[in-house]
Order: sequence, then structure tokens, then C-alpha cells
Amino acid sequence: MHKEDVKQILFTNEQIKARIAEMGKQLTKDYLGKKLVIVSLLKGAAWFTADLSREIDLPVRTDFMVVSSYGNATMTSGMLKIYLDVRDDLRGKDVLIVDDILDTGVTLGAVVDMMKEHSPASVKTCVLCDKKERRLNEFEADYVGFTVPDEFLVGYGLDYAGDYRNLPFIGVLNSSVYARTK
Ligand code: IMP
Ligand code: MG
Repeated sequence: MHKEDVKQILFTNEQIKARIAEMGKQLTKDYLGKKLVIVSLLKGAAWFTADLSREIDLPVRTDFMVVSSYGNATMTSGMLKIYLDVRDDLRGKDVLIVDDILDTGVTLGAVVDMMKEHSPASVKTCVLCDKKERRLNEFEADYVGFTVPDEFLVGYGLDYAGDYRNLPFIGVLNSSVYARTK
């Protein structure tokens, strides 16, 4: 199970790196003079976070969360299960929540609500991929790498049942993989 399970490559590693460099430049401008703390949502955002943070030419602190959403459009922060919480003191900081993909919007919507309880100076969101068609709420990210079609994507942190995260590109998973017994 690997590359051969991908039916179409949407973004090559070169395209991803180039887009992340652009995003880094934008963030460098926007966060000049601020106290930027990236809160990265594991596991999927780890690859994106590592590359993005190195394209930001400012002091950046990085913290991590492991969360899992359960629920629907009428979400509240109570619909989020937290497996690992932030450890830094976020009071007065400029928090940028980073995730691999924005899908229904339930996860990021709930994380943003929860982050506000830490009394940060600001809270914004940044995602590598945005599957706009799937949104169940009004949520929009402040920074988006790529707008993507409503397909199941893998690679560059994105997984199917925990696999494929280390593919260097982002591709569409072959639907025959879902049918396979694991
Ligand atoms: P949301 O709460 O529906 O926005 O969930 C976003 C999360 O769903 C992401 O962090 C991913 O873990 C997962 N996800 C959504 N779409 C995909 C996909 O196409 N491939 C892999 N993971 C996905
Ligand atoms: Mg995820």
C-alpha cells in the first residue's frame, strides 16, 4: 500500500513547497511585531507545520494539540475530544491554528472557540487544503494553501486510516482502497 493507491496527483511536492513559501511570506508580513504562537493539530498538520514555520522569518513558538471532533453542524466546543492540550501560556499571544485540511469545519470551529478561553490577543486559522463544498457551518480559514475538490486526499500529512501521511505529494486515493480488508 503506497503510491500505487493514488489515482491522481493533485499537487506535487514542488507545488506544495512553493505555495508554503508564499504563505510564509504573507504570514511574515502579517505577524511582524506580534507574538506568534502556532498551535498545530496533530497528527495531520505536523508535516505542513514543520515546513510552514521554517518559511516564517520571525520568532515563532509552536505548540501541539491532538483533538477529534464528533458531532455535526450545530457544534460547540463540547463536541471536541481533547487527547493532548496546549501547554504554552497563550494569554496575550497571537495564536495561529494550523491544520492539514478544512472539511466540514467542525474541528476548526470548535478549536477556535476553545482557544478563546485562553485569552489570546488574536486567533486565526491556517490550512493547507480547503474542501469548501463539504462545509457544514459558516467557518472560513484566514489562510488557505489550496482549494481542493470533494475527493478523499492523502499525502503530505493527510491519511487514510493512519496510512499514506509520508507521501511527499497530495493525491486522490483510489476508491478500491476503501473496499480492501485491512
Ligand atoms: P472537519 O472537522 O470535518 O473539518 O475535519 C477536518 C479533519 O478531517 C482533518 O484534520 C482530517 O483529519 C480529516 N479529513 C477531512 N478530509 C480529509 C481527506 O480528504 N483526507 C484525509 N483526511 C481528511
Ligand atoms: Mg486531522
